[in-house]
Amino acid sequence: MKNTVSKLGSLGVLLVSTSLVACSPGGGGGTTADDTPEGQAFTFRQGLMRTIAYKVARLRGMAQGEIPADEEAFKKSANDLVTLAGMITEGFIPNSDVEGSAALPAIWMNWSDFQQKAMDLQSAAQNLAQAANNGGMSAAQSLVQPVGQSCGGCHRPYRRRAETEE
Ligand code: HEC
Repeated sequence: MKNTVSKLGSLGVLLVSTSLVACSPGGGGGTTADDTPEGQAFTFRQGLMRTIAYKVARLRGMAQGEIPADEEAFKKSANDLVTLAGMITEGFIPNSDVEGSAALPAIWMNWSDFQQKAMDLQSAAQNLAQAANNGGMSAAQSLVQPVGQSCGGCHRPYRRRAETEE
């Protein structure tokens, strides 16, 4: 599985994968990485989601004072998130609910709504990034929460809950 990661370029999958133990991988331990376009889309979006989760955890940690505040890192994570959110729909090519995936078929039956949910995250990230760019962390802190809420807004309708999820 790790071999296929190199195809993802600098997405940082290897860096973040170990720090997300708390996040359920969804569909239950599927480690098969198939080379079909659908399988590659799945691998891509897993890396993307984990990268997004990493960025949000950093932002939240700093906003809540759990990790040391770093103005530049905060700003960068917020701006990275805008870009990452813009990559979500690419990872969900038609019928890519492959084995091991937690993606629900409802995604492709409600594609424009799914796109909207991705845009909801992106605009929340944009608000955050703009506030951080203009006024720094103190101005942007309160905008981390809406970003986090938009994750659930999409996961609830479109992501299968893992059987193993506690
Ligand atoms: C537009 C919809 C959408 C948004 C917005 C979204 N996600 Fe996801 N996410 C999904 C779907 C669908 C899956 C399941 C993908 C699969 O298993 O094929 C998923 C899976 C994940 C996973 C599991 C990745 C893995 O290891 O398999 C994590 C972690 C995650 N999302 C974090 C987040 C966080 C954090 C946010 C918000 C900052 C977020 N997501 C926003 C749709 C979304």
